Amino acid sequence: MWRLVAGHALLWVCASAACAGENDSANGVWNGVLQTSGQQQRIVLHIETDQGAIQGTLDSPDTGRLGIPLAMVKAEQKALQFEVREPHAAFQGSLSADGNSLTGDWKQGLDVIHVTFTRLAQAPDFRQDGPYLFRANCAQCHTPFNPVRAPWPATLQAMQKSAILGALENGKMRAAGAALSSEQRAAIANYLGRSEVAQPSAAVNACPAGLKGMANTPLWNG
Ligand code: HEC
Repeated sequence: MWRLVAGHALLWVCASAACAGENDSANGVWNGVLQTSGQQQRIVLHIETDQGAIQGTLDSPDTGRLGIPLAMVKAEQKALQFEVREPHAAFQGSLSADGNSLTGDWKQGLDVIHVTFTRLAQAPDFRQDGPYLFRANCAQCHTPFNPVRAPWPATLQAMQKSAILGALENGKMRAAGAALSSEQRAAIANYLGRSEVAQPSAAVNACPAGLKGMANTPLWNG
């Protein structure tokens, strides 16, 4: 009897607008971590339905790539599948009953990685993310066995944060640094280097933002 009632309640809810709501579909922003042989790779999915067609993109900040288009996206009831090209990967999974997680298998090469994505209220901003900034701006040279004789990542990781920041601001890497904001340079230095926290040098000795001219204050004391 209870089952019957519950079934009816579900039908009734589904007949109302709630069924078309966010939580019942894969539409939205999803956050997951692929665990592969000691490495972690963050993945953010952006899924939307536009004029009845489901589509999406993927952010892979730890490989320095954002907005990778998803191919062959298919959603049927609680199931979702899609593919990614270069490097080829395929995901197949399903939404939880509450619609807040998406669990399935991520296939890449010979690996099958079980992954759970959780729904995010808003998309993360990777513009100040150290690992993303390094992969997107530095790793094309700073990789093991690189032909341009750039220090390997392990060598950079042995440097002080302040030395890395110095290289980006007025040292050998200032050309690469010039393409970034001071916050981004500090984010890379903090991610890569060791010990003390690097500060963007623009902030050193600068007046706090929004400080009014001293002489304009109305009260004077002699
Ligand atoms: C186009 C290739 C290239 C890119 C891109 C690049 N680097 Fe370099 N980097 C090099 C090379 C080559 C050296 C070695 C230069 C030398 O010793 O004369 C180097 C040296 C360095 C050093 C050591 C500097 C020193 O004073 O010894 C740091 C730190 C560094 N890079 C950080 C970065 C960071 C952080 C980025 C990304 C924002 C970056 N690099 C982007 C090629 C590159």
